[in-house]
Amino acid sequence: MTVYQNSQNSMEQLSEKELLDFVKAGNLPRHIAIIMDGNGRWAEKKGLNRISGHREGIQSVRGVITLSRELGLEALTIYAFSKENWNRPALEIKTLMLLLEEYLKRELPTLMKNEIRFQSLGRIEDLPLPVIQSIKKVEEATRNNKKMVLNIALSYGGRAEIIDAIHQFNADVQKGTRLLKELDENLFSSYLYTRGMVDPDLMIRTSGEERISNFLLWQMAYTELYFTRTLWPDFGRKDLLLAILEYQRRERRFGRVSPESHGEI
Ligand code: IPE
Ligand code: IPE
Ligand code: MG
Repeated sequence: MTVYQNSQNSMEQLSEKELLDFVKAGNLPRHIAIIMDGNGRWAEKKGLNRISGHREGIQSVRGVITLSRELGLEALTIYAFSKENWNRPALEIKTLMLLLEEYLKRELPTLMKNEIRFQSLGRIEDLPLPVIQSIKKVEEATRNNKKMVLNIALSYGGRAEIIDAIHQFNADVQKGTRLLKELDENLFSSYLYTRGMVDPDLMIRTSGEERISNFLLWQMAYTELYFTRTLWPDFGRKDLLLAILEYQRRERRFGRVSPESHGEI
């Protein structure tokens, strides 16, 4: 067993309070992105239908939002429905949309109380009208909240986001408000759904799958990736703290040489 595994295992033995103290003493990520995965498998393991898994997963969403806000993160981005998820059975999609609408309606007072701004990312126009209306309402009501941004990616695809940005940039070029030669990475970022936000420092994916499934392709160029086998409905406060602790042990080099490297050239 490696040293890394030993210390990770010993961390898992700590209480939530102890983990919280460790996390607070370290360098906190500004932005965490999460691919919440494994709702279906969680339900199947318990002999329930997939929808029960999605319903249970909402509790984990609430938990990570609350803890992220307590820790003082600037942004939390949660992948809730991908463009590819439209290929699921019609009944699952319909129920997911109803759960989403119900969630938005119920959560607004909590978002207001905790001064969290809600934003949707994705091709929102693809969603059913009542969902679009609920999104607009919550976005509008929370727009001046300053403590944290909560992004929920819906009908989201990273490639589609890049294509949408190109179309919007081109429209500005056609209008004469932009010149093609001005285009650089910063300007391009300002055409993405995540405009004005820092890139995620840490991306967490639950359920043991180790892929990014078309999530934040542009923004994750230098994000630290963390994969856990825990299924999303079982992902609690301690799991988020363990992920942040792992992040705090990483050295982010951004292509540079480690300052601790004493090697000869
Ligand atoms: C994640 O759980 C939630 C959504 C994609 C909506 P899944 O529904 O993908 O669960 P698994 O991967 O089938 O277990
Ligand atoms: C990714 O999960 C999308 C969301 C979490 C919303 P999926 O379960 O759809 O991803 P794949 O199909 O396993 O890559
Ligand atoms: Mg899945």
